[in-house]
Amino acid sequence: MSSAPSPKAHRVTTRTLREMKERGEKIAVLTCYDHLFGSLLDKTAIDVILVGDSLGQVILGYDSTLPVTLDEMIHHSRAVRRAISKALLVVDLPFLSYQISDEDALRNAGRVLKETGAEAVKLEGGDAATVSRVRALVNAGIPVMGHLGLTPQALHRFGGYRVQGRGAEQAEAIKTAATGLDEAGCFSLVLELVPAELAGEISRAVDMPTIGIGAGAECDGQVLVLPDMLGLNPGFTPKFLRRFGSLAGEVSLAVDDYIKAVKDGGYPSQEESYGD
Ligand code: KIV
Repeated sequence: MSSAPSPKAHRVTTRTLREMKERGEKIAVLTCYDHLFGSLLDKTAIDVILVGDSLGQVILGYDSTLPVTLDEMIHHSRAVRRAISKALLVVDLPFLSYQISDEDALRNAGRVLKETGAEAVKLEGGDAATVSRVRALVNAGIPVMGHLGLTPQALHRFGGYRVQGRGAEQAEAIKTAATGLDEAGCFSLVLELVPAELAGEISRAVDMPTIGIGAGAECDGQVLVLPDMLGLNPGFTPKFLRRFGSLAGEVSLAVDDYIKAVKDGGYPSQEESYGD
């Protein structure tokens, strides 16, 4: 039986991730949206915690990431920050908080760092405008994680959540974008829903560590959405998702037991009640 990796002795920085890539040590990333789960993650050896704009679907009940506001991201990130002592904390810039201009991106990313205490931001895309945003943020001292492949903020352009980079032309476009983000100074790159072979090629071609989700085993690390990997979201069943727990079932059983105990008078017992 393998033992659990020990919790981290030191804070993880963007430089730590670069060194891990150089050593060939895989990087483990999870999303998180609140203080309760942040406190549980803080007791583990997780390397990076991402307050993703998946917040919108997973926690807030929106049907995509598009409605998520910067204020919502900041509110949840502050709660996570209060729990996290070692992992690198990265916060997603939500839709339309960076697309308009470099100045807007800088103002909004600056708010994230100042108001949440996160160490870095993530943004989606790799066209010339996005590369310009990355340069503006990096020049101002704000570390940026890129995100290519299926970028959920462009959901309506893609016409659905589907694998990106199949076929030579699309694959070439993603490779070119990855190189552009690497040169612009991204410290890391999420590759979402791209063929494993393409993700491997990109991972070998760029200096920054790549973090895959539905992008095969050759990325420098992996990210999963925390409630999905814990099995709290049983209706979501993409091919790439491995469930490392089945907490939805545990929650139902516990709540059923509680209801039964309340209804039949078994809870609270005398031991669970206060005397005079
Ligand atoms: O918003 C998010 O959770 C993400 C991860 C899936 C990478 O962007």
